[in-house]
Amino acid sequence: MLPVQRRRASIPWARPRCLSVAQRQREARTGLTLKAPVGSVPGMRIVLMGAPGSGKGTQSQRLVERFGIPQISTGDLLRSAVARGSEYGRRAKAAMDSGQLVADEIVLGIIRERLAERDAAHGFILDGFPRNLAQAQALRTMLAGIGAPLDAVVLFEVNYAEIIKRISGRRTCPQCGRVFNLHDASSGSTPRCDHCDDHPPLVQRRDDEEGTVRRRLEVYERETRPLAQHYAAQGLLRTIDADGPVEEVTARLVATLSSVPPAQPSAHAPQTAS
Ligand code: AP5
Repeated sequence: MLPVQRRRASIPWARPRCLSVAQRQREARTGLTLKAPVGSVPGMRIVLMGAPGSGKGTQSQRLVERFGIPQISTGDLLRSAVARGSEYGRRAKAAMDSGQLVADEIVLGIIRERLAERDAAHGFILDGFPRNLAQAQALRTMLAGIGAPLDAVVLFEVNYAEIIKRISGRRTCPQCGRVFNLHDASSGSTPRCDHCDDHPPLVQRRDDEEGTVRRRLEVYERETRPLAQHYAAQGLLRTIDADGPVEEVTARLVATLSSVPPAQPSAHAPQTAS
């Protein structure tokens, strides 16, 4: 198990922020309440975007260990909803199995609920959300409504040959959700989780079958990649080379985030009067 390192104090966006009366009134109007106590120290609020298999989940888990803020992965939340057989899960399953995007209405409902949980008041890593312009606009409105805009959006660039190789070897722990890769020597010859006490066998995701991966890549190019331009226009986009050993990518990611100036609560608020 990697040691938990909390270095929030050394990063520029780790600053005290009190919720004003106006911000609390906006929370009440939008229905999205971060429940941050006055005087708390929220951390960074970032989006990791990139093609399937580009390493968003892997790097999110490292940022969680390093900075102690939660990873919010819509893919994980949806898979958990499917496994539980919840209403959201039943409606999402067909789209996920075929490599298409799940309906915005479902994803936004899930995100709204998750962002309202207490741990998200101290910053968060959005992994795999937003995935199209409508989701990006809805997120911006939600966060502007509580005076908590994004600090940065990081785009992971990896060539497609590497992506196909990574996805074909990806295995996940069904208990703790950690991601492994059969091509990684440290995974060992027996694909079992080395973080859980009873070392459960790792499993392959249903949507990692070749034809489904091809469709997911098409959907990414058509729906999600254009968001890079959208966020570049807002001055939020940072791009990293996500090729190379995991630790090197982590170092690039942390260096990139360390250079991000703190977002101003009003900087990305909608222009319309509320
Ligand atoms: P989701 O679960 O989000 O999948 P994805 O975005 O396609 O991303 P992946 O999880 O495949 O890849 P990743 O970038 O996290 O890579 P990882 O770190 O695992 O979404 C699944 C489905 O849910 C979607 O298709 C859609 O249907 C639905 N959905 C989700 N969000 C939605 C939304 N917002 N709106 C609508 N629908 C939504 O790494 C991959 C492998 O590579 C691993 O084995 C890892 O160990 C290995 N690896 C990682 N980094 C490296 C490295 N540097 N070198 C070598 N190997 C590496």
